[in-house]
Order: sequence, then structure tokens, then C-alpha cells
Amino acid sequence: MKIIMLGAPGAGKGTQAKLISEKYGIPHISTGDIFRANIKNDTELGKKAKVYMDKGELVPDELTCELVVDRIAQDDCKKGFILDGFPRTIPQADALKEALQQRGEAMDFAIDIDVPDDFIINRMGGRRACPNCGATYHIVNIPPKKEGLCDVCGSPLVLRDDDQPETVKKRLDVYHAQTEPLIDYYKKEGILRKVDGTQEMEQVFAAITSVLGE
Ligand code: AP5
Ligand code: MG
Repeated sequence: MKIIMLGAPGAGKGTQAKLISEKYGIPHISTGDIFRANIKNDTELGKKAKVYMDKGELVPDELTCELVVDRIAQDDCKKGFILDGFPRTIPQADALKEALQQRGEAMDFAIDIDVPDDFIINRMGGRRACPNCGATYHIVNIPPKKEGLCDVCGSPLVLRDDDQPETVKKRLDVYHAQTEPLIDYYKKEGILRKVDGTQEMEQVFAAITSVLGE
């Protein structure tokens, strides 16, 4: 099963993608996580991506498309995969479609997690992320077992650099201008499924599994 997670920054793409990955046994591929890992390891790609990410802008398509096309060609993606945060522009969606077409394949579902902007602004201030393993929490909605520490690896949790309020606002503007048109793109392809992302995490997941099937 090949799934795209669509939705604004903070809609819950990463949270749900992790649950889908565990239930269906397919890899979770987050371009944001890949860029953050590269920034942490101070790679050339990380240095380039950081300039855009810190401002809340998109990393250029030429740095992003090849990365994903290579990743989905790996062995662990044979049974399917979940794309979280990609595609984010029409050219990225076209590059993905073309790469799959060459293998005689196509995406199965694009799940749009629908959350209004005012909800998102509230959520992002409470998000805490693990800089070591990438797990995410929310200080009120999804707290870690021990305050300030990651449940998975015990590292101290941080506020992501791009979760400062002004940057969140910019990311929402970028989403509406560049990524939201993908909702129509996948509607035309006949694979768009919308779920209400304002519900509790478990209810959102139940809505998604009812779309994907058991
Ligand atoms: P990326 O890392 O993809 O960030 P994003 O899309 O802005 O999305 P987030 O990760 O912020 O939100 P999410 O939807 O995953 O929500 P989460 O599950 O954490 O990208 C970062 C940057 O990298 C971009 O700005 C760009 O610069 C660059 N980039 C990445 N991909 C790119 C691409 N393809 N092209 C170009 N540039 C790219 O949930 C949010 C919070 O809410 C958490 O605290 C969570 O615990 C909580 N929460 C989740 N679900 C619920 C719920 N149901 N109820 C209550 N709280 C909830
Ligand atoms: Mg995410």
C-alpha cells in the first residue's frame, strides 16, 4: 500500500504516519525528518536545507525530489510506504508520479488530514520533539511518560526551531499557497480521502484505518 499524508504543518501527519507504519508494516518516510537528521549530522544537504527550514520556506524541489525517488526505490519499500511531508508542490507530485509510472506503479491513497489554522497555531506551541530519534509529543494532548524526556530513547525534548510562532504562521502561508493545490490534484487522480484531524489522535487513526481497510 502506497500512501501520501497531506495536511497543513501540525495537522498530525507525522503522528498518524507512525501509527500507520506500525499497523501495516510499511516504512514511514518523512522528508522533514530526513532534512532534520542531515542538519544534526551537519551534511552538505543539511546545511542547504536549514537556510529554508528556519525561515519556514520550502526546500527547493531539486534537493527534495531525487532524495525521495531514491528512497522509495529501496528494498524495504517493495510492499509499500507512507510519504509524510512529500509531495508539497505540483512539480514534486509530478516527479513522484513519473518515477512510479516508470515502474508500472501508482500511489493508492492521498489522505488529507483536515485541521483549521487556528487549531494548528495552538497545537504547535505545545509540540515537543526528540532531537535524537524524532518522536513527537504534545505537552497537553500527547505528553511523554516522564516530563521533558523522550519515551523511546530518554533524550531531553526540545521545541523545534521552526515551531516559533512567527515561523508557524509563515509555514501556514506557504502551505496554503504551494501545497494545498495538491488536494485538487489527488482528487482528480481519484485517490484523495479526507479525514477530520481535529478529533483525538485515536479517532483520527480510526478514520484513517477505515479508509485503508484492515
Ligand atoms: P515537516 O517536518 O514535514 O513539517 P510540517 O509539514 O510543517 O509538519 P509538522 O511536522 O510540523 O506537522 P505534522 O503534520 O507532522 O504534525 P505532528 O504529527 O507533529 O517539514 C519541515 C520543513 O522541512 C518544511 O517547512 C520545509 O522547509 C522542509 N520540507 C519538508 N519536506 C519538504 C518538501 N517535500 N519540499 C520542500 N520542503 C520540505 O503533530 C503536531 C502536534 O500536534 C504534535 O505536538 C502532536 O503531538 C500533536 N497532535 C497530533 N495529532 C493530534 C490530535 N489528533 N489531537 C491533538 N494533538 C495532536
Ligand atoms: Mg511532521
